[in-house]
Amino acid sequence: MKIAVPLETAAGESRVAVSPDAVKAYVKKGLTVCIEQGAGAGSFMSDDAYKTAGAKIAKGAAVLKDADIVLAVRRLPDASIKSLKKGAIVAGQLDPYGDRKNLDAMAKQGVSAFSMELVPRITRAQSMDVLSSQANLAGYKAVIDAAEHFSRAFPMMMTAAGTVPAARVFVMGAGVAGLQAIATARRLGAVVSATDVRAAAGEQVASLGAKFVFVEGMADAATEGGYAKELSAEDKKKQAELVADHIKGQDIVITTALIPGRPAPVLVTKQMVESMKAGSVIVDMAVERGGNCPLSKPGQIVDHKGVAIMGHENLPGKLAGNASTLYAKNLQNFVDLMVSAEGEMKLDWEDEIITGCGLMRDGEIVHPVLTEKKGN
Ligand code: NAI
Repeated sequence: MKIAVPLETAAGESRVAVSPDAVKAYVKKGLTVCIEQGAGAGSFMSDDAYKTAGAKIAKGAAVLKDADIVLAVRRLPDASIKSLKKGAIVAGQLDPYGDRKNLDAMAKQGVSAFSMELVPRITRAQSMDVLSSQANLAGYKAVIDAAEHFSRAFPMMMTAAGTVPAARVFVMGAGVAGLQAIATARRLGAVVSATDVRAAAGEQVASLGAKFVFVEGMADAATEGGYAKELSAEDKKKQAELVADHIKGQDIVITTALIPGRPAPVLVTKQMVESMKAGSVIVDMAVERGGNCPLSKPGQIVDHKGVAIMGHENLPGKLAGNASTLYAKNLQNFVDLMVSAEGEMKLDWEDEIITGCGLMRDGEIVHPVLTEKKGN
């Protein structure tokens, strides 16, 4: 059985879906691993390191030839899809809520495809959870980026020339990325507060030494799967009032709020930005999903009346060395679910992890995200 790992082609994507350690594990199962030349370069994983681990290196489209399993970070480019063999398996972050054309083309090719973002959040699947492994790194990087751009220090410093006050950091959305942002900002010495619409986040925020800002009496907006749902109009209004009051005194705001399958909620309005002091920094981590601040622009740092709004895309990709290693391990655990230790295919469409993230089965679109039309 052959595993293929193509070079990622999306602009700015530096990650790769396999590490030398993962190659060793696949080879141990008796699988052949074929990697496109230079696929690991952005993560400083060289062709030589892959070869030493037991992989073959291929040039260009040849990598996909006769592949049984294709591992990717993002969707395959349209031009590569026709190189997929009928019945092949594709696993990657396939952006299931994005435009359908590319996914339909894959289905036409007769493949089975798995979208790693949809792996259910159950204990057994934790080691395959790419959203967590990547968001954790992103939350860290967001704070580092903000600190780098901020013209003042994070920790309080008492000096003979006077006291430097600690920076005030407000994290909006205390999920995986938000909690890491809180921990990172605390380590740098900031005074940190955070908000979320899931009441359960309160305890986690407090355990990291940050203050939880939550609307009194607001309905808990957690779903069974642990994600957030959209707030009622009334709760949105109450939350906006609370945030407007709190944000005025903040130096750094990190926004991470997402609702699966929906555009990111608007949390920091233009008026709120204008209430902040000049020199403050906002990092909008939701920028790729529409943004938590309407002023943020993907890939840009917008200056609005002295407040910098950073809209960096693909934050995990900026820590590609770690991000690729963790992502490759997530995929390796997923492949272990499908392929036995002896290298035999044992794909089980009764398994809730497989059905949870399986978009198409031998060319038939099967996932509710794609079969049920959503009013989005
Ligand atoms: P996410 O990336 O979908 O959203 C980020 C955060 O934004 C979430 O905490 C969400 O509640 C919050 N949010 C959404 N709308 C908001 C609004 N209007 N105002 C403020 N905050 C808002 O979520 P993420 O980080 O992927 O995970 C959320 C939770 O899922 C985790 O905290 C955890 O409880 C659970 N989880 C469970 C896992 C498991 O059991 N294997 C693994 C990872 C996470």
